[in-house]
Amino acid sequence: MIVDFRSDTVTRPTEAMREAMARAPVGDDVFGDDPTVNALQERVAREAGKEAALLVPSGTMANQLALRAQTSAGDEVLLHARSHILNYEGGGAAAISGLLCRAIDSADGALDGARLSSLVHDGLDPHHAPTRLLCLENTHNGCGGVVVPHASLAVAAQAARASGLRTHLDGARLWNALAVTGQSLREAAAPFDTVSLCFSKGLGAPVGSILVGDHSTIARAHRFRKMLGGGMRQAGILAAAADHALTHHRARLAEDHRRADVLARALGELPAAGVEYGPLHTNLVYFTVDAAHPLRRDGDLVVASAAEHGVLITGGGGRYRAALHLDVTNDGLTHAIDVLRRLLV
Ligand SMILES: Cc1ncc(COP(=O)(O)O)c(C=O)c1O
Repeated sequence: MIVDFRSDTVTRPTEAMREAMARAPVGDDVFGDDPTVNALQERVAREAGKEAALLVPSGTMANQLALRAQTSAGDEVLLHARSHILNYEGGGAAAISGLLCRAIDSADGALDGARLSSLVHDGLDPHHAPTRLLCLENTHNGCGGVVVPHASLAVAAQAARASGLRTHLDGARLWNALAVTGQSLREAAAPFDTVSLCFSKGLGAPVGSILVGDHSTIARAHRFRKMLGGGMRQAGILAAAADHALTHHRARLAEDHRRADVLARALGELPAAGVEYGPLHTNLVYFTVDAAHPLRRDGDLVVASAAEHGVLITGGGGRYRAALHLDVTNDGLTHAIDVLRRLLV
């Protein structure tokens, strides 16, 4: 049995999703002619309480378009030191938008409003790059997949706005956060000018993310999507999968969180392992293995040994990640826990 915990992006479309894709009316979306794409964009914009939305191939493109559409080359952007935008998007902020990224760290993904305000350069002193945009992330992958409390995000966004900055939320896994808090997407999106959301992670669609915001920002993002080669033609088959996922897979995210909890508790009982897990955690379980453990003493063999027994995880150097998702069953979870118990005694 293979249990693939490497990411929540490894899921395969269900039969029902494939049927929805096959049935979808399509057109050329670069001409704005695809009714299924248009309906999805309208649906998500409405649910997020924003004027417009743009379907894009990936979360990375949604974030990069948000940067490009709301800044000019030479501007500064404030973001979290462990954010996806800073660390895992190939240097796109510099290469695509010519931005200076100023990173601020915290253990829990939250950024202090007063601290942010004190860092803003208003552009009057020519020595400094003018600060134009604040980017936050929820759930926060680099901080362990935690839900960042809405109140702290709202205070940070408010401080940024008061200093004249635009605000973007990387909400690749915002659906997971909402499954924990019970908050509506509209409420979660309200403090931000733009929000990116992914359909291809916990929701289980094969491809697709979306950027929501006001008409003029989304119109600019649309232009840059074309420039970067992100215009897709009969994308309705992808929009249909995303729409199906939104309708049918949101409620079940709580199951992934429950299974993550079971896995975290089991790992927590192993003397050689430490678990980063608490009440605000979602579908990502980060854990550590002691340096003195036989699987770490002569090079890191944790990932390879688990894989030999059909349990696929990521990480290294003592810190590892297991992502729970649609394709992990209770049997798979039981098998994985057995394997990890045997390996990490
Ligand atoms: C927080 C966060 N933002 C953005 C992305 C990028 O998404 P994609 O892989 O679709 O480009 C990811 C991917 O895992 C992510 O974790």
